[in-house]
Amino acid sequence: MAIDVILGLQWGDEGKGKIVDYLAQGYDMVARFQGGPNAGHTLKFDGHKFVLHTVPSGIFRKNLLNLIGNGVVIDPITLRGELDTLRSAGCEYQSRLLVSKKAHLILPTHRYLDAASEAAKGQEKIGSTLKGIGPAYMDKTGRNGLRAGDIQLDDFRDRYESLKRKHLGLLSAMPEVEFDLAGEEKKWFDSVEVLRSLQLVDGEYFINQQLKEGKKILAEGAQGSMLDIDFGTYPFVTSSNTITAGVCSGLGVAPQTIGQVIGITKAYCTRVGGGPFPTELFDETGAALQREGAEFGATTGRPRRCGWIDLPQLKYTIMLNGVTQLAVTKIDVLNKFEKIKTAEKYRYNRQTTDQLPFDICGIPVEPVYASFPGWQLSLDNIADYEGLPEAAKTFLDELENQLKVPVTMISTGPDRSSLILKESMVRHSL
Ligand code: GDP
Ligand code: IMO
Ligand code: MG
Repeated sequence: MAIDVILGLQWGDEGKGKIVDYLAQGYDMVARFQGGPNAGHTLKFDGHKFVLHTVPSGIFRKNLLNLIGNGVVIDPITLRGELDTLRSAGCEYQSRLLVSKKAHLILPTHRYLDAASEAAKGQEKIGSTLKGIGPAYMDKTGRNGLRAGDIQLDDFRDRYESLKRKHLGLLSAMPEVEFDLAGEEKKWFDSVEVLRSLQLVDGEYFINQQLKEGKKILAEGAQGSMLDIDFGTYPFVTSSNTITAGVCSGLGVAPQTIGQVIGITKAYCTRVGGGPFPTELFDETGAALQREGAEFGATTGRPRRCGWIDLPQLKYTIMLNGVTQLAVTKIDVLNKFEKIKTAEKYRYNRQTTDQLPFDICGIPVEPVYASFPGWQLSLDNIADYEGLPEAAKTFLDELENQLKVPVTMISTGPDRSSLILKESMVRHSL
Protein backbone atom coordinates (compact mmCIF):
# COMPACT_ATOMS: atom_id res chain seq x y z
CA MET A 1 0.00 0.00 0.00
CA ALA A 2 1.23 3.50 -0.76
CA ILE A 3 1.68 6.64 1.27
CA ASP A 4 -0.25 9.59 -0.11
CA VAL A 5 1.14 13.02 0.60
CA ILE A 6 -0.51 16.37 1.30
CA LEU A 7 1.63 19.47 1.28
CA GLY A 8 1.53 23.20 0.64
CA LEU A 9 2.73 24.52 -2.72
CA GLN A 10 3.17 28.17 -1.69
CA TRP A 11 4.60 29.86 1.44
CA GLY A 12 2.51 27.94 3.97
CA ASP A 13 -1.02 28.33 5.37
CA GLU A 14 -2.64 26.93 2.23
CA GLY A 15 -5.25 25.09 4.31
CA LYS A 16 -3.37 21.82 4.87
CA GLY A 17 -5.03 21.22 8.26
CA LYS A 18 -8.50 21.47 6.78
CA ILE A 19 -7.81 19.18 3.84
CA VAL A 20 -5.95 16.58 5.95
CA ASP A 21 -8.78 16.57 8.50
CA TYR A 22 -11.28 16.00 5.69
CA LEU A 23 -9.36 13.28 3.88
CA ALA A 24 -8.16 11.50 7.04
CA GLN A 25 -11.43 9.59 7.22
CA GLY A 26 -10.24 7.47 4.30
CA TYR A 27 -6.91 6.51 5.93
CA ASP A 28 -5.57 4.36 8.76
CA MET A 29 -2.83 6.76 9.80
CA VAL A 30 -1.76 10.38 9.38
CA ALA A 31 1.96 11.08 9.77
CA ARG A 32 3.65 14.49 10.08
CA PHE A 33 7.06 14.39 8.45
CA GLN A 34 8.77 17.73 9.16
CA GLY A 35 8.50 21.13 10.79
CA GLY A 36 7.44 21.78 14.31
CA PRO A 37 5.52 24.37 16.32
CA ASN A 38 6.15 26.98 13.63
CA ALA A 39 3.19 25.30 11.91
CA GLY A 40 -0.39 26.28 12.71
CA HIS A 41 -2.95 24.01 11.07
CA THR A 42 -6.55 25.10 11.52
CA LEU A 43 -9.44 22.63 11.67
CA LYS A 44 -13.09 23.68 11.86
CA PHE A 45 -16.00 21.32 12.33
CA ASP A 46 -19.22 21.05 14.31
CA GLY A 47 -18.88 24.65 15.44
CA HIS A 48 -15.40 24.10 16.92
CA LYS A 49 -12.06 25.50 15.82
CA PHE A 50 -8.71 23.92 16.66
CA VAL A 51 -5.20 24.99 15.73
CA LEU A 52 -2.66 22.17 15.74
CA HIS A 53 1.09 22.78 15.75
CA THR A 54 2.75 19.40 16.31
CA VAL A 55 -0.08 16.89 16.47
CA PRO A 56 -1.12 15.55 13.04
CA SER A 57 -4.42 16.84 11.69
CA GLY A 58 -6.02 13.37 11.66
CA ILE A 59 -6.36 13.34 15.45
CA PHE A 60 -10.07 14.19 15.51
CA ARG A 61 -11.00 11.24 13.31
CA LYS A 62 -11.77 8.21 15.44
CA ASN A 63 -9.85 4.95 15.00
CA LEU A 64 -7.04 6.71 13.21
CA LEU A 65 -3.39 6.53 14.23
CA ASN A 66 -1.35 9.73 14.19
CA LEU A 67 2.44 9.66 14.03
CA ILE A 68 4.81 12.52 14.77
CA GLY A 69 7.67 11.46 12.52
CA ASN A 70 11.43 11.65 13.05
CA GLY A 71 11.67 14.67 10.73
CA VAL A 72 9.59 16.79 13.13
CA VAL A 73 11.12 18.96 15.86
CA ILE A 74 9.06 18.83 19.05
CA ASP A 75 8.77 21.47 21.73
CA PRO A 76 7.32 19.51 24.67
CA ILE A 77 5.71 22.72 26.01
CA THR A 78 3.72 23.32 22.82
CA LEU A 79 2.85 19.65 22.52
CA ARG A 80 1.56 19.57 26.07
CA GLY A 81 -0.64 22.61 25.34
CA GLU A 82 -2.11 20.84 22.32
CA LEU A 83 -2.80 17.71 24.32
CA ASP A 84 -4.53 19.77 27.03
CA THR A 85 -6.80 21.20 24.33
CA LEU A 86 -7.54 17.74 22.93
CA ARG A 87 -8.39 16.43 26.39
CA SER A 88 -10.73 19.36 27.12
CA ALA A 89 -12.45 18.71 23.79
CA GLY A 90 -12.99 15.06 24.74
CA CYS A 91 -10.63 13.80 22.04
CA GLU A 92 -9.00 10.56 23.17
CA TYR A 93 -5.42 10.62 21.91
CA GLN A 94 -3.42 8.36 24.23
CA SER A 95 -3.98 5.17 22.24
CA ARG A 96 -3.75 6.87 18.83
CA LEU A 97 -0.85 9.29 19.05
CA LEU A 98 2.66 7.96 18.45
CA VAL A 99 5.94 9.82 18.58
CA SER A 100 9.09 8.74 16.77
CA LYS A 101 11.98 8.35 19.19
CA LYS A 102 14.19 9.96 16.55
CA ALA A 103 12.24 13.25 16.44
CA HIS A 104 14.46 16.04 17.77
CA LEU A 105 13.57 18.19 20.76
CA ILE A 106 13.35 21.96 20.88
CA LEU A 107 14.94 23.18 24.13
CA PRO A 108 14.08 26.51 25.76
CA THR A 109 17.55 27.73 24.74
CA HIS A 110 16.70 26.99 21.09
CA ARG A 111 13.93 29.57 21.35
CA TYR A 112 16.29 31.91 23.17
CA LEU A 113 18.83 31.50 20.34
CA ASP A 114 16.13 32.05 17.70
CA ALA A 115 15.21 35.38 19.30
CA ALA A 116 18.86 36.48 19.66
CA SER A 117 19.66 35.41 16.11
CA GLU A 118 16.76 37.42 14.67
CA ALA A 119 17.79 40.42 16.80
CA ALA A 120 21.34 40.11 15.42
CA LYS A 121 20.03 40.16 11.83
CA GLY A 122 18.14 43.44 12.40
CA GLN A 123 16.55 44.63 9.13
CA GLU A 124 17.60 41.40 7.42
CA LYS A 125 15.65 39.19 9.80
CA ILE A 126 13.84 36.14 8.43
CA GLY A 127 10.64 36.88 10.32
CA SER A 128 10.93 33.54 12.11
CA THR A 129 8.06 32.36 14.26
CA LEU A 130 10.66 32.34 17.09
CA LYS A 131 9.71 28.78 18.02
CA GLY A 132 13.35 27.62 18.01
CA ILE A 133 13.06 25.80 14.69
CA GLY A 134 16.30 26.98 13.05
CA PRO A 135 18.50 26.38 16.13
CA ALA A 136 16.94 22.93 16.75
CA TYR A 137 17.55 21.78 13.16
CA MET A 138 21.06 23.27 13.35
CA ASP A 139 21.77 21.07 16.36
CA LYS A 140 20.33 18.09 14.47
CA THR A 141 22.61 18.56 11.46
CA GLY A 142 25.46 19.68 13.74
CA ARG A 143 25.07 16.36 15.56
CA ASN A 144 24.46 17.92 18.95
CA GLY A 145 20.70 17.48 19.23
CA LEU A 146 18.54 15.74 21.81
CA ARG A 147 15.90 13.34 20.54
CA ALA A 148 12.55 12.30 21.98
CA GLY A 149 13.92 8.83 22.75
CA ASP A 150 16.70 10.40 24.84
CA ILE A 151 14.21 11.27 27.58
CA GLN A 152 14.17 7.54 28.43
CA LEU A 153 17.94 7.47 29.03
CA ASP A 154 19.42 7.70 32.53
CA ASP A 155 21.75 10.53 31.60
CA PHE A 156 19.10 12.66 29.89
CA ARG A 157 19.54 15.53 32.36
CA ASP A 158 23.31 15.55 31.82
CA ARG A 159 22.83 15.64 28.06
CA TYR A 160 20.39 18.52 28.47
CA GLU A 161 22.79 20.49 30.68
CA SER A 162 25.66 19.94 28.29
CA LEU A 163 23.67 21.23 25.28
CA LYS A 164 22.33 24.14 27.32
CA ARG A 165 25.90 25.12 28.27
CA LYS A 166 26.83 25.13 24.60
CA HIS A 167 23.84 27.37 23.85
CA LEU A 168 24.69 29.79 26.67
CA GLY A 169 28.18 30.09 25.23
CA LEU A 170 26.73 31.04 21.85
CA LEU A 171 24.26 33.46 23.43
CA SER A 172 27.05 35.34 25.19
CA ALA A 173 28.26 36.55 21.78
CA MET A 174 24.81 37.61 20.56
CA PRO A 175 22.61 40.63 21.23
CA GLU A 176 20.80 40.49 24.55
CA VAL A 177 17.12 39.59 24.37
CA GLU A 178 14.64 39.14 27.16
CA PHE A 179 14.07 35.48 28.03
CA ASP A 180 12.96 33.90 31.31
CA LEU A 181 15.18 30.84 31.05
CA ALA A 182 14.51 29.50 34.56
CA GLY A 183 10.74 29.77 34.11
CA GLU A 184 10.81 28.20 30.64
CA GLU A 185 13.05 25.37 31.84
CA LYS A 186 10.64 24.50 34.62
CA LYS A 187 7.72 24.35 32.16
CA TRP A 188 9.87 22.34 29.75
CA PHE A 189 10.80 19.62 32.24
CA ASP A 190 7.18 19.38 33.44
CA SER A 191 6.15 18.95 29.80
CA VAL A 192 8.81 16.32 29.18
CA GLU A 193 6.91 14.20 31.71
CA VAL A 194 3.83 14.48 29.49
CA LEU A 195 5.90 13.45 26.48
CA ARG A 196 7.15 10.48 28.51
CA SER A 197 3.56 9.34 28.98
CA LEU A 198 3.03 9.07 25.20
CA GLN A 199 3.84 6.07 23.04
CA LEU A 200 7.43 6.57 21.86
CA VAL A 201 8.10 4.27 18.93
CA ASP A 202 10.74 3.37 16.38
CA GLY A 203 8.76 5.29 13.80
CA GLU A 204 10.51 3.90 10.73
CA TYR A 205 9.85 0.28 11.75
CA PHE A 206 6.33 1.11 12.82
CA ILE A 207 5.31 2.83 9.59
CA ASN A 208 6.89 0.17 7.36
CA GLN A 209 5.06 -2.53 9.29
CA GLN A 210 1.81 -0.62 8.79
CA LEU A 211 2.51 -0.49 5.07
CA LYS A 212 3.24 -4.21 5.00
CA GLU A 213 -0.14 -4.82 6.64
CA GLY A 214 -1.82 -2.89 3.82
CA LYS A 215 -2.68 0.18 5.90
CA LYS A 216 -3.44 3.48 4.13
CA ILE A 217 -1.19 6.30 5.24
CA LEU A 218 -1.42 10.02 4.63
CA ALA A 219 1.73 12.10 5.11
CA GLU A 220 1.04 15.65 6.27
CA GLY A 221 3.45 18.43 5.40
CA ALA A 222 3.97 21.65 7.26
CA GLN A 223 4.95 25.07 5.89
CA GLY A 224 5.05 25.21 2.09
CA SER A 225 7.41 24.30 -0.73
CA MET A 226 8.60 27.90 -1.13
CA LEU A 227 9.87 27.70 2.46
CA ASP A 228 11.90 24.54 1.73
CA ILE A 229 15.49 24.82 2.99
CA ASP A 230 16.94 23.78 -0.39
CA PHE A 231 14.45 25.07 -2.94
CA GLY A 232 12.62 27.92 -1.21
CA THR A 233 13.41 31.63 -1.32
CA TYR A 234 16.65 31.14 0.63
CA PRO A 235 17.54 32.50 3.16
CA PHE A 236 13.90 33.45 3.81
CA VAL A 237 12.89 29.85 4.40
CA THR A 238 12.40 27.41 7.22
CA SER A 239 15.02 24.82 8.19
CA SER A 240 13.51 21.57 6.89
CA ASN A 241 12.69 19.91 3.58
CA THR A 242 9.02 20.69 3.14
CA ILE A 243 8.73 18.92 -0.24
CA THR A 244 7.79 15.31 -1.06
CA ALA A 245 11.44 14.24 -0.69
CA GLY A 246 11.10 15.16 2.99
CA VAL A 247 8.50 12.39 3.43
CA CYS A 248 11.15 9.70 2.89
CA SER A 249 13.69 11.19 5.28
CA GLY A 250 11.09 12.47 7.73
CA LEU A 251 9.30 9.15 8.18
CA GLY A 252 11.80 6.51 7.12
CA VAL A 253 9.99 5.24 4.03
CA ALA A 254 11.35 4.39 0.60
CA PRO A 255 10.59 6.59 -2.46
CA GLN A 256 8.58 3.86 -4.18
CA THR A 257 6.06 3.87 -1.31
CA ILE A 258 4.89 7.35 -2.31
CA GLY A 259 1.49 7.26 -4.03
CA GLN A 260 -0.65 10.32 -4.72
CA VAL A 261 0.87 13.73 -4.05
CA ILE A 262 -1.84 16.29 -3.32
CA GLY A 263 -0.54 19.82 -3.63
CA ILE A 264 -2.55 22.59 -1.99
CA THR A 265 -2.70 26.12 -3.27
CA LYS A 266 -4.85 29.01 -2.23
CA ALA A 267 -6.82 30.60 -5.06
CA TYR A 268 -4.49 33.57 -4.44
CA CYS A 269 -1.22 33.74 -2.52
CA THR A 270 0.02 34.74 0.92
CA ARG A 271 3.26 34.88 2.82
CA VAL A 272 4.02 35.68 6.44
CA GLY A 273 7.45 36.91 7.50
CA GLY A 274 10.18 38.40 5.31
CA GLY A 275 11.41 37.49 1.84
CA PRO A 276 10.51 37.85 -1.84
CA PHE A 277 6.91 37.55 -3.00
CA PRO A 278 6.64 38.47 -6.70
CA THR A 279 2.86 38.90 -6.86
CA GLU A 280 2.48 40.75 -3.55
CA LEU A 281 -0.08 43.57 -3.73
CA PHE A 282 0.40 46.73 -1.71
CA ASP A 283 -2.88 48.33 -2.81
CA GLU A 284 -6.55 48.08 -1.90
CA THR A 285 -6.81 44.71 -3.72
CA GLY A 286 -4.15 43.26 -1.43
CA ALA A 287 -5.95 44.72 1.57
CA ALA A 288 -9.22 43.19 0.33
CA LEU A 289 -7.62 39.73 0.01
CA GLN A 290 -6.26 40.12 3.54
CA ARG A 291 -9.65 41.20 4.88
CA GLU A 292 -11.82 38.68 3.02
CA GLY A 293 -9.40 35.85 3.72
CA ALA A 294 -8.92 36.81 7.39
CA GLU A 295 -5.23 36.46 6.69
CA PHE A 296 -3.58 36.42 10.10
CA GLY A 297 -1.01 33.80 11.10
CA ALA A 298 -2.47 30.83 13.00
CA THR A 299 0.70 30.57 15.12
CA THR A 300 1.86 34.15 15.60
CA GLY A 301 -1.24 36.22 14.72
CA ARG A 302 0.87 38.34 12.34
CA PRO A 303 -0.95 39.78 9.29
CA ARG A 304 -0.14 37.77 6.15
CA ARG A 305 1.08 39.53 3.03
CA CYS A 306 -1.32 38.91 0.10
CA GLY A 307 -1.19 38.81 -3.69
CA TRP A 308 -2.48 37.05 -6.79
CA ILE A 309 -1.88 33.39 -7.52
CA ASP A 310 1.51 32.86 -9.13
CA LEU A 311 1.64 30.19 -11.85
CA PRO A 312 5.43 30.15 -12.48
CA GLN A 313 5.86 29.65 -8.73
CA LEU A 314 3.29 26.83 -8.73
CA LYS A 315 4.83 25.16 -11.81
CA TYR A 316 8.13 25.13 -9.91
CA THR A 317 6.72 23.51 -6.76
CA ILE A 318 4.59 21.06 -8.75
CA MET A 319 7.80 19.97 -10.48
CA LEU A 320 9.71 19.62 -7.20
CA ASN A 321 6.97 17.60 -5.53
CA GLY A 322 5.65 15.42 -8.34
CA VAL A 323 2.14 16.68 -7.65
CA THR A 324 -0.60 14.41 -9.02
CA GLN A 325 -3.65 16.33 -7.79
CA LEU A 326 -4.37 19.92 -6.82
CA ALA A 327 -6.57 21.15 -4.01
CA VAL A 328 -7.53 24.81 -4.45
CA THR A 329 -8.54 26.44 -1.18
CA LYS A 330 -10.13 29.73 -0.16
CA ILE A 331 -11.77 30.26 -3.54
CA ASP A 332 -14.67 31.85 -1.64
CA VAL A 333 -12.33 34.70 -0.63
CA LEU A 334 -12.55 35.88 -4.27
CA ASN A 335 -16.36 35.97 -4.27
CA LYS A 336 -16.66 39.75 -4.26
CA PHE A 337 -13.88 40.52 -6.72
CA GLU A 338 -14.81 42.04 -10.07
CA LYS A 339 -11.57 40.89 -11.63
CA ILE A 340 -9.22 38.06 -10.70
CA LYS A 341 -5.66 37.86 -11.90
CA THR A 342 -3.19 35.06 -12.40
CA ALA A 343 0.54 35.66 -12.87
CA GLU A 344 1.30 33.69 -16.05
CA LYS A 345 4.98 34.58 -16.57
CA TYR A 346 7.82 36.49 -14.97
CA ARG A 347 9.77 39.31 -16.55
CA TYR A 348 13.33 39.94 -15.37
CA ASN A 349 16.73 40.56 -16.95
CA ARG A 350 14.88 41.66 -20.12
CA GLN A 351 13.39 38.21 -20.68
CA THR A 352 9.93 36.71 -20.21
CA THR A 353 10.03 33.28 -18.64
CA ASP A 354 8.26 30.99 -16.24
CA GLN A 355 11.45 30.02 -14.47
CA LEU A 356 12.28 31.46 -11.05
CA PRO A 357 15.64 33.28 -10.95
CA PHE A 358 18.39 31.88 -8.71
CA ASP A 359 18.70 35.26 -7.04
CA ILE A 360 15.00 35.75 -6.42
CA CYS A 361 15.88 37.77 -3.32
CA GLY A 362 18.01 40.19 -5.33
CA ILE A 363 16.44 40.49 -8.79
CA PRO A 364 13.18 42.43 -9.10
CA VAL A 365 10.74 40.02 -10.76
CA GLU A 366 7.80 41.56 -12.60
CA PRO A 367 4.79 39.26 -12.99
CA VAL A 368 2.88 39.23 -16.29
CA TYR A 369 -0.80 38.90 -15.46
CA ALA A 370 -3.86 37.50 -17.18
CA SER A 371 -7.19 38.83 -16.01
CA PHE A 372 -10.43 36.89 -15.52
CA PRO A 373 -13.92 38.07 -14.65
CA GLY A 374 -14.99 37.39 -11.07
CA TRP A 375 -18.26 35.61 -10.24
CA GLN A 376 -19.50 38.02 -7.58
CA LEU A 377 -21.71 35.39 -6.00
CA SER A 378 -21.58 33.51 -2.73
CA LEU A 379 -20.38 29.92 -3.03
CA ASP A 380 -22.23 28.86 0.14
CA ASN A 381 -24.37 25.80 -0.36
CA ILE A 382 -22.72 24.79 -3.62
CA ALA A 383 -22.04 21.11 -3.13
CA ASP A 384 -20.71 20.02 -6.50
CA TYR A 385 -18.46 21.20 -9.25
CA GLU A 386 -21.26 21.60 -11.76
CA GLY A 387 -22.98 24.03 -9.39
CA LEU A 388 -20.05 26.48 -9.39
CA PRO A 389 -20.53 29.75 -11.30
CA GLU A 390 -19.14 29.66 -14.86
CA ALA A 391 -16.53 32.32 -14.02
CA ALA A 392 -15.20 30.18 -11.17
CA LYS A 393 -14.99 27.18 -13.50
CA THR A 394 -13.11 29.28 -16.06
CA PHE A 395 -10.62 30.30 -13.38
CA LEU A 396 -10.14 26.67 -12.27
CA ASP A 397 -9.80 25.56 -15.92
CA GLU A 398 -7.04 28.12 -16.36
CA LEU A 399 -5.18 26.62 -13.39
CA GLU A 400 -5.52 23.09 -14.77
CA ASN A 401 -4.50 24.14 -18.28
CA GLN A 402 -1.44 26.04 -17.13
CA LEU A 403 -0.35 23.69 -14.38
CA LYS A 404 -1.14 20.42 -16.17
CA VAL A 405 -2.44 18.80 -13.00
CA PRO A 406 -6.11 18.06 -12.29
CA VAL A 407 -7.88 20.11 -9.63
CA THR A 408 -9.67 17.44 -7.60
CA MET A 409 -10.69 19.46 -4.54
CA ILE A 410 -12.06 22.97 -4.20
CA SER A 411 -12.43 24.44 -0.74
CA THR A 412 -15.18 27.04 -0.38
CA GLY A 413 -14.94 27.86 3.33
CA PRO A 414 -13.03 27.04 6.50
CA ASP A 415 -15.39 24.34 7.69
CA ARG A 416 -14.72 20.65 7.12
CA SER A 417 -17.96 20.45 5.16
CA SER A 418 -17.15 23.28 2.72
CA LEU A 419 -15.34 21.16 0.19
CA ILE A 420 -16.23 20.32 -3.39
CA LEU A 421 -14.76 17.10 -4.71
CA LYS A 422 -14.55 16.33 -8.37
CA GLU A 423 -15.90 12.97 -7.28
CA SER A 424 -14.80 10.77 -10.10
CA MET A 425 -11.20 11.90 -9.83
CA VAL A 426 -10.72 11.91 -6.07
CA ARG A 427 -12.41 8.58 -5.48
CA HIS A 428 -10.60 7.04 -8.38
CA SER A 429 -7.15 8.00 -7.30
CA LEU A 430 -7.23 7.93 -3.49
P1 GDP B 1 -2.38 25.46 7.13
O1 GDP B 1 -1.21 25.95 7.92
O2 GDP B 1 -2.02 25.15 5.72
O3 GDP B 1 -3.11 24.34 7.78
O4 GDP B 1 -3.40 26.69 7.05
P2 GDP B 1 -3.81 27.68 8.26
O5 GDP B 1 -4.71 26.97 9.17
O6 GDP B 1 -2.60 28.33 8.84
O7 GDP B 1 -4.52 28.84 7.46
C1 GDP B 1 -5.61 28.60 6.66
C2 GDP B 1 -6.76 29.50 7.16
O8 GDP B 1 -7.77 29.54 6.19
C3 GDP B 1 -7.41 28.95 8.42
O9 GDP B 1 -7.93 30.03 9.17
C4 GDP B 1 -8.56 28.10 7.86
O10 GDP B 1 -9.63 27.97 8.79
C5 GDP B 1 -8.97 28.92 6.68
N1 GDP B 1 -9.49 28.17 5.53
C6 GDP B 1 -9.13 26.94 5.07
N2 GDP B 1 -9.80 26.65 3.93
C7 GDP B 1 -10.57 27.73 3.67
C8 GDP B 1 -11.48 28.07 2.62
O11 GDP B 1 -11.67 27.33 1.66
N3 GDP B 1 -12.09 29.28 2.69
C9 GDP B 1 -11.89 30.15 3.72
N4 GDP B 1 -12.52 31.31 3.71
N5 GDP B 1 -11.05 29.88 4.73
C10 GDP B 1 -10.39 28.69 4.69
P1 IMO C 1 2.17 26.14 8.30
O1 IMO C 1 2.49 24.70 8.51
C1 IMO C 1 3.53 30.11 7.08
C2 IMO C 1 7.69 31.14 7.96
C3 IMO C 1 7.95 32.20 9.01
C4 IMO C 1 9.26 32.77 8.52
C5 IMO C 1 9.97 31.54 7.97
C6 IMO C 1 10.94 30.90 8.95
O2 IMO C 1 1.16 26.67 9.25
O3 IMO C 1 1.86 26.43 6.87
P2 IMO C 1 10.74 29.51 11.20
O4 IMO C 1 9.90 29.72 12.42
O5 IMO C 1 10.50 28.22 10.52
O6 IMO C 1 12.19 29.77 11.48
O7 IMO C 1 10.29 30.69 10.19
O8 IMO C 1 8.96 30.61 7.63
N1 IMO C 1 6.84 30.02 8.42
C7 IMO C 1 5.58 29.82 8.04
N2 IMO C 1 4.77 30.60 7.29
N3 IMO C 1 3.09 28.93 7.58
C8 IMO C 1 3.89 28.14 8.32
O9 IMO C 1 3.53 26.90 8.71
C9 IMO C 1 5.19 28.60 8.62
N4 IMO C 1 6.23 28.10 9.34
C10 IMO C 1 7.24 28.96 9.19
O10 IMO C 1 6.93 33.16 9.03
O11 IMO C 1 9.03 33.65 7.45
MG1 MG D 1 -0.65 27.61 9.08
